[in-house]
Amino acid sequence: QASFDNLAQQFQHLPLLDRYPNSFPDINPVDVYRSHITSILHDITGVDPSIIYPALQWTATLDKGDLMLAIPALRVKGKPDELGKQWLEKWPESPLVEKPIQSGPFLPFFFKAGPLSKTVIPMVLDRKDTFGENKSLGLRDMNDPSKGQQRIIVEFSSPNIAKPFHAGHLRSTIIGGFLANLYRAVGWDVISINYLGDWGKQYGVLAYGFGKYGSEEELVKDPINHLFHVYVKVSKDVAEEKEQAEKLKAEGKEEEAQKLLDEGTDEKARSYFKKMTEGDEEALALWKRFRDYSIERYKKTYARLNIHFDEYSGESKVSEDEMQEAAAKLKEMGLAHDDKGALLIDFTQAVPGKEGKSLGKAILRKRDGTALYLTRDISELLARHEKYKFDKMVYVIASEQDLHVKQFFKIVSLMGQKEIADKCQHVNFGLILGMSTRKGTVKFLDDILRDVGDHMHDVMKTNEDKYSQVEDPAKVSDLLGISSVMVQDMTGKRINNYTFDLARMTSFEGDTGPYLQYAHARLCSITRKAGLTDEEIAGADLSLLTEDMAINLVRVISQWPDVVQNVLKTLEPTTVLTYLFKLTHTLSTSYNHLRIVGSEAEVMKARMALYSAARVVLHNGMSLLGLSPVERM
Ligand code: ARG
Repeated sequence: QASFDNLAQQFQHLPLLDRYPNSFPDINPVDVYRSHITSILHDITGVDPSIIYPALQWTATLDKGDLMLAIPALRVKGKPDELGKQWLEKWPESPLVEKPIQSGPFLPFFFKAGPLSKTVIPMVLDRKDTFGENKSLGLRDMNDPSKGQQRIIVEFSSPNIAKPFHAGHLRSTIIGGFLANLYRAVGWDVISINYLGDWGKQYGVLAYGFGKYGSEEELVKDPINHLFHVYVKVSKDVAEEKEQAEKLKAEGKEEEAQKLLDEGTDEKARSYFKKMTEGDEEALALWKRFRDYSIERYKKTYARLNIHFDEYSGESKVSEDEMQEAAAKLKEMGLAHDDKGALLIDFTQAVPGKEGKSLGKAILRKRDGTALYLTRDISELLARHEKYKFDKMVYVIASEQDLHVKQFFKIVSLMGQKEIADKCQHVNFGLILGMSTRKGTVKFLDDILRDVGDHMHDVMKTNEDKYSQVEDPAKVSDLLGISSVMVQDMTGKRINNYTFDLARMTSFEGDTGPYLQYAHARLCSITRKAGLTDEEIAGADLSLLTEDMAINLVRVISQWPDVVQNVLKTLEPTTVLTYLFKLTHTLSTSYNHLRIVGSEAEVMKARMALYSAARVVLHNGMSLLGLSPVERM
């Protein structure tokens, strides 16, 4: 019903709805208008549509119009003032847009209200969950779907087993989950990878410590916390032994000190890890159980965040041979050199100018022959390309690791794999300051979510009436808590630091998660109270939506597919959030003017159609961010 062809039919007396490349009028209402305005401008100016179409930009606020043209963007000789005047003299009567009123070098376009509602609302109600998606953007060739989708790897979360899940992992999880959803929505073949910190001497420490302090029962019950506690205890032993040895040395008891260290925890851990690297089955079996239990537990937490990983990779999975090969190759190419038994790359030599200086030096292989974090990343990148033949790979890692990421991208490029390196992108982000909750400093994701959820539960209980109507308050408060944490994280630009603020993030005032959830629940409640069928809503006479409030709401709703396209450029969750708050603010001012209850039957249907469309868009936006919209709260 809302399809482009029907629209074209509706306005068939006008030769104004040509199809342009990269235009999707069937699924993006604004593209209907872009096409239309492009045709008009082409007729008037003779400028090629391929220049006009992309020059039609969206506006920041509705009072600036729905689309806007910067006159110089059409690259026609002359002063913008004059050109605008000349063009407007020739402007034809249009059924879709008002005649623009020039504003300096700009032509703002306002969509005519009646046809806009009739284009947008049926399109949203028809497309439902898929309104905003555009699967053709991810195709290798937009004109030939048989060539398949482009493939993207999104690597994110990547916590370290037996160590706290810190702020960096939290942000990576939230942002990465969003990016995976985004690329899926625009038709890419998405592969999500969790690259665990699951290898290194600390697993020797942990395994040895488990023999001393571990409990089978605890491991099965709560692996993440238990392993962490074991790790803390045994690390303390290591530290104490070191201290004692220092003391002995200071007293001149060299031999005794050495004996203590040789038989000490650290040495036992080192030899345990060595056994692991040599493939000792028994040593590996215990480590594998730690890993498996931890993953199992993590999966449950990720599920609460609507996140799923296609692959649990990790530092342990990087092939030792491949790393040695890479190191050898770098040496052979003269890029790396031996330095007191270690293998070193000096970027100031390998890369000319400023860039080389900023990259500094890095160790590829330690003196004892073991590979490092950096080398693992290099090999893992190449192996992933081999395995997945990706078109793009995104690493969601804290900006604290900017240098590390730049280094391994650069090394891959220097190794003659520039093409592969160029497919990789580091999506970075700033710190969370003061991340502690009521129960102390947080250690694991579950602690954070539980704490914030508990707080939301307390808040919900203060409204007894509503509380009694919520079917599963524990579940709802959990979802509200998760929304609080996620929305707070996504509010600013990724690169900004922010302060973890429990009171603020859980408030119903201001642009918060609970506010968004409330807006959604309110729309659901309006829908329940109206009690109209889908058919009644679909059959509404949309010309009854005449109020400015209604029209503005339709205008905001129409922008959603454009917002999705834009976020693909920014890769900033805040692009989506800013839009959702614009939508919910517009909604909250309209309720008083656009009442349902007590309205005349036909008006009620039309308004319900409008609110339904708003609910669909809010739902789709929240889901894209990874939130679970609630229906009651
Ligand atoms: N496990 C690492 C850490 O906690 C993060 C891994 C990031 N990904 C990567 N490919 N280096 O710091």
